[in-house]
Amino acid sequence: MLQKREEISILELGFGTGLNCMLSLSYAEYHQMPIRYTAIDAYPISYAMVSQLNYDQHILRPDYDKLMLTMHGDQELKEWTELNKDFFLKKIKCRFESFTTTQKYDIIYHDAFGPDYDLRYWRKPFLKDMVRTLSVGGRLVSYCAQGQFKRDLRSLGLDVQAVAGPPGKREITIAEKPKGELEK
Ligand SMILES: C[S@@+](CC[C@H](N)C(=O)[O-])C[C@H]1O[C@@H](n2cnc3c(N)ncnc32)[C@H](O)[C@@H]1O
Repeated sequence: MLQKREEISILELGFGTGLNCMLSLSYAEYHQMPIRYTAIDAYPISYAMVSQLNYDQHILRPDYDKLMLTMHGDQELKEWTELNKDFFLKKIKCRFESFTTTQKYDIIYHDAFGPDYDLRYWRKPFLKDMVRTLSVGGRLVSYCAQGQFKRDLRSLGLDVQAVAGPPGKREITIAEKPKGELEK
C-alpha cells in the first residue's frame, strides 16, 4: 500500500474494460482515499460491448450499471468526472506516445497489452517518459515480468520488485521511484 497521502493520482495506459478503474474505486472507498484517475486509450470500448462482460457477477455493487455507463458511455471524459464521492476520472482518447503532461502520478498502471503487441511501449525511451511523470515514492505497476523490461526500469533508477501475480500470472512487476532519484 502507498503511504497515506491527501489524494492519490493514477495514470493508466490502456483503459480497456475499466476493470482496473473499478477496482481502484473500490480501494478508494474502502480506504477512504481520494483518487484522481487519468486513463489513456486510443480505442475505447463501447458501453454495448462492456455490458456483455460478467464483471457484475464479481463486482457486487448497486451502482455497477451507472458506473459502467459513465465510464463507457462516451468516447472521452475530458474533464474530471465524479464516479463516486472522492473518485474522479478523466478518460483521454489518444495514443500513448501522444499523451503529454506536466503532472506527476503516484501510480502508473502500465497495461498496454504486452511487449509482443508493441515492443516500443516496453523499452527504455518510452519508459523514460513514464518515469519522469512518476512522483517520488510513486510506483509503476505492470503484468509484464520480462527481464529486459525490468532491467530498463532499474537502469532508469527505479527499485524494481517481482511479486506474485493474480491467478494465472506467476509474476508481475512493481517499480518504485526512490527519493533522490537522478534522471538518466
Ligand atoms: C490490456 S488492455 C487494457 C485493460 C484494462 N486496463 C482493463 O482494466 O480492462 C490494453 C488497452 O490498450 C489500448 N491500446 C493499445 N494500443 C494503444 C496505443 N498505442 N495507444 C493508446 N491505447 C492503446 C487498447 O485499446 C486496450 O484497450
